[in-house]
Amino acid sequence: MKVMSVFGTRPEAIKMCPLVKELAGREGVESLCCVTGQHREMLDSVLEVFGVRPDYDLNIMTPRQTLSSITEKCLGGMNGAIEQLKPDLILVHGDTSTTFASALSAFYHQIPVGHVEAGLRTYDKYSPYPEEMNRKLVSALADLFFCPTENNRANLAREGITEGVYVTGNTVIDALKTTVREDYVFSSEVLNRLPYREKKIILVTCHRRENYGEPMENIMLALREIAEAYPEVELVYPVHLSPVVRETVKRILPGAPGVHLIDPLPADEMHNLMARCYMVMTDSGGLQEEAPALGKPVLVLRRETERPEAVEAGTVKLAGVERRAIVAMASELIADAEAYRRMAHAVNPYGDGHACERIADAITRRFG
Ligand code: UD1
Ligand code: UDP
Repeated sequence: MKVMSVFGTRPEAIKMCPLVKELAGREGVESLCCVTGQHREMLDSVLEVFGVRPDYDLNIMTPRQTLSSITEKCLGGMNGAIEQLKPDLILVHGDTSTTFASALSAFYHQIPVGHVEAGLRTYDKYSPYPEEMNRKLVSALADLFFCPTENNRANLAREGITEGVYVTGNTVIDALKTTVREDYVFSSEVLNRLPYREKKIILVTCHRRENYGEPMENIMLALREIAEAYPEVELVYPVHLSPVVRETVKRILPGAPGVHLIDPLPADEMHNLMARCYMVMTDSGGLQEEAPALGKPVLVLRRETERPEAVEAGTVKLAGVERRAIVAMASELIADAEAYRRMAHAVNPYGDGHACERIADAITRRFG
């Protein structure tokens, strides 16, 4: 049986590479990997860390690409991948434009679709944008649904989807298990030399489309204010390669005390940095899953989240996108040891690191 995993961006790759490898070890399964190249450098870096070589590469990325251009190029490019590799099942991940377009292409070719990380919802059409709509559309196209949590399964059940649904945990925890090591040595001297013990290192990322413009400016101004107010804090910010993000960052943050603006990190470097930092401030989906597993408090720089599990467990808080609220919430965690202690405990609502095994088991049972 030929199982073709399709992905195109950094987070999809981090969460799918362990599954591509798990499937490759299964008897009777040929594990194929097709990348759309929606991201280029950030995708290639993950492929290198996990040692995965794609069988097909659509190579679609252009600077400042639009949602339509990504969807159009993926949909067109997938025809060639399907004709050449002839998969029996196509696996897609999460909620990017690659995810939606490749699931749609699978449907046009009448090939069954397995959706990894299924059932996440905010129920707000425009937030996150376009991800909420992408994942809902993929739910309509998919045949197998691999939900990270019971809560995700319940979301699908409310929409009438009960067949072919499996609760597996999130494959990001599988990935994290292979990357984080106590004796890890960073390839960058900046990261090796950070004062992890003497200072409070805050790890920052920000990239969401719905935060472009004023919300992202507010976030950057809040970060600057935090850096100026607390000499005991250092901010480490690997800046996403999106030109929109980089322009906003460059306008507001350079020159702020204790702020390290660096290029995107390879996944293993990022995970180990997270394991050593004091706390995380982010609008990323993946970081909301990883940081709680590592016992790090997270302030989410968004108005909502499709990942309520760690909020309920008390390690993630929604900080919103207003400068004053972000500064106030960060200040509490920096200055109030008790408030920090209440949030800094490891929780694992996203699984035990065996999600890929469960997904591969479900596939081989179903198609075996
Ligand atoms: C995409 C996903 C988003 C996901 C995010 C993860 C969509 C619509 N968005 O958003 O769901 O959370 O990836 O990071 O699917 N760029 C490079 N090199 C790279 C990657 C990006 O130069 O390796 C630049 C390009 O100019 C590109 C721009 O970043 O046009 C934006 O990339 P794009 O994939 O369109 O959007 P993201 O914000 O990365
Ligand atoms: N990540 C990384 N290097 C970085 C920033 C993030 O490897 O410089 C990892 C992070 O640990 C997580 C994933 O990328 O596994 C999250 O990707 P991103 O925030 O781009 O997308 P999202 O999860 O929001 O879709």
